Amino acid sequence: MAAKPQSPASNFQSVLQESRRFKPSAAFAKAAHIGSEASYKRLYRESIQTPEKFWGRMAKQELVWFRPFKKVLEWKEPFAKWFVGGKLNLSVNCLDRHLGTPTANKAALIWEGEPAADGKPGEERVFTYRQLHREVCRFANVLKRNGLKPGDRAILYLPMVPEAAIAMLACARVGVIHSVVFGGFSAQSVADRIQDCGAKVVITADGGFRRGGIVPLKKNVDDALAIQDATGALLSRTIEKVIVLRRTGHEVAFNSPRDVWWHEELGSVSSDCPPEKMDSESPLFILYTSGSTGKPKGILHTTAGYLLGAKLTTRYVFDLKDTDVYWCTADVGWVTGHSYVVYGPLANGATSLMYEGAPNWPEPDRFWRIIAKYAVSILYTAPTAIRAFMKWGDQWPAQHDLSSLRLLGSVGEPINPEAWMWYHKVIGKKRCPIVDTWWQTETGSILISPLPGVTSTKPGSATLPFFGILPEVVDDQGRAVPRNTGGKLVIRKPWPSMLRGLWGDAERFKQVYWSELKGSYFTGDGCRQDTDGYFWIVGRIDDVLNVAGHRIGTAEVESALVSHPSVAESAVVGRPDDLKGQALVAFVTLKTGVVAQPRLREELRQHVAKEIGPVAKPDDIRFAESLPKTRSGKIMRRLLKQVAAGAEIKGDTTTLEDLSVLSKLGSAED
Ligand code: WT7
Repeated sequence: MAAKPQSPASNFQSVLQESRRFKPSAAFAKAAHIGSEASYKRLYRESIQTPEKFWGRMAKQELVWFRPFKKVLEWKEPFAKWFVGGKLNLSVNCLDRHLGTPTANKAALIWEGEPAADGKPGEERVFTYRQLHREVCRFANVLKRNGLKPGDRAILYLPMVPEAAIAMLACARVGVIHSVVFGGFSAQSVADRIQDCGAKVVITADGGFRRGGIVPLKKNVDDALAIQDATGALLSRTIEKVIVLRRTGHEVAFNSPRDVWWHEELGSVSSDCPPEKMDSESPLFILYTSGSTGKPKGILHTTAGYLLGAKLTTRYVFDLKDTDVYWCTADVGWVTGHSYVVYGPLANGATSLMYEGAPNWPEPDRFWRIIAKYAVSILYTAPTAIRAFMKWGDQWPAQHDLSSLRLLGSVGEPINPEAWMWYHKVIGKKRCPIVDTWWQTETGSILISPLPGVTSTKPGSATLPFFGILPEVVDDQGRAVPRNTGGKLVIRKPWPSMLRGLWGDAERFKQVYWSELKGSYFTGDGCRQDTDGYFWIVGRIDDVLNVAGHRIGTAEVESALVSHPSVAESAVVGRPDDLKGQALVAFVTLKTGVVAQPRLREELRQHVAKEIGPVAKPDDIRFAESLPKTRSGKIMRRLLKQVAAGAEIKGDTTTLEDLSVLSKLGSAED
């Protein structure tokens, strides 16, 4: 059941033999937005052969404009401008446009809070489109009142509460660029992001609930705002205001006039807030994600193209209908939460469900209970969650009525066929198509996925490209490889929701994504295309691990470890893990005189949690006298991966500087 160990894409011969195929039922296909292979092919062909015609038509048809665009695409590789000259506002496209229609009084957001520690059921809140519009306008006025102007940056560090969506939409309404920081990240991560984007405001909460405990968000912000660089300067010196939502109600430090309460601010604003007329290419948000080197990258998305991608994929990939209750379980701190909890569903006038808590709190039936309670019809979750549900046992879903479900989705990492089959049988009762959606923070929206009324699925394959997307599997020289051969996944053409750059770092943008292969976007993923043309993504080929669906750069964890006073050197690699897909194993050498005690192991894990966040804590820390290195001093990660996986050391070790190192690494536990 474990995910396959990572291997360099260019030397794997694909091993996975998966011949099962699942065809959409005739009834599903008949009712679907796109219900035949012929219509998919016709639209796909048009989108590739005449992309500007295709995207121009979609943008006119799907988005509400203050001023129409003059040109569909301006492409000076690697810089794209889509829908040039157009003016629009994203919040108008998600909210105002529905107000004159029957959708106005439909539930836009259904929110379920986490049950309390004493077993009391969680709260429920429902916002109709009209109510959500009102709340967004009011909070947009709060932003203005606190000095925010179009183009300013705001850090959002919030729990999974409706106010997270409200704050995002309010930023969009007044042209403020938001950067959501996942609530599980540390004060240090918050400070780094504030510094990188020069944010003027932090929007946070006193705390968030998680498994009956409190995540001290406000305290983390206070800590972040006190962090200094090596010269003693504050990292967060651009911050003027901290807007604090009262969520947990516990006492927090309050530093007036810098800190203001969300609810008090609302008292002095009106619910009338005319939307800013934004350019198609106005930055909408920055979202930080791990790369193979250096600090996290600020992925930049802009307005019109991003929204169009999110809107169209939400409708067609999930076959979204007006009657659906749609639930994407991602946190708004990740791109999935942006595109498929907030922007995609609301642009379509859908009902989007948001849940605050963990899938196994207070019991492992949380998801199934919520599905039954709200008659959820579309569920979009991650393989790591599916594998956890499998482990917890079929008795949990069996206790609840899941008959409202009609479509299932998966995202975040390759889904192993066993998990796919379990999802299909135990949750979907063999009735529901599964869409395994491949995309990235950088791509903004889904690029490779089945269309549920059209595509015959194969467990483990994300299948075929969405409209306008031309993926290809290539070798190290950039030549297309034959079918059934592993290689690197690239995208040949620009698409509207693609990232526009890295915040403040055009060079790194070019180097990371556009230098591998001229004329193509490099995804960093290894892939193979089978004889039917289906894409099988095997995972990252760079030094980025996918731990429980979170992209974690090994370089970041290494630098966090080395920042601890006891550590001399470290190398972090992945090993296959049944639940998380990959687990983090850190090899650590200590400074002279420091003794490798078990206690230090926990201290180092906590140190990484403090530097980056609990998601990046190594699962396993092994102390070593030295690390295996080549004569030129490069750490031999290939060997460390084998050691970490408990495998026999294979392959060439002739370049290894000191062979005796290897034998010592195996005996890691004290
Ligand atoms: C990386 C992107 C996509 C939003 C959530 C993660 C892996 C994602 C799949 C899938 C195989 C997948 C890739 C990708 N990935 N979805 N369906 N099948 N792999 O966004 O943190 O930017 O991570 O997640 O390796 O490059 P992200």
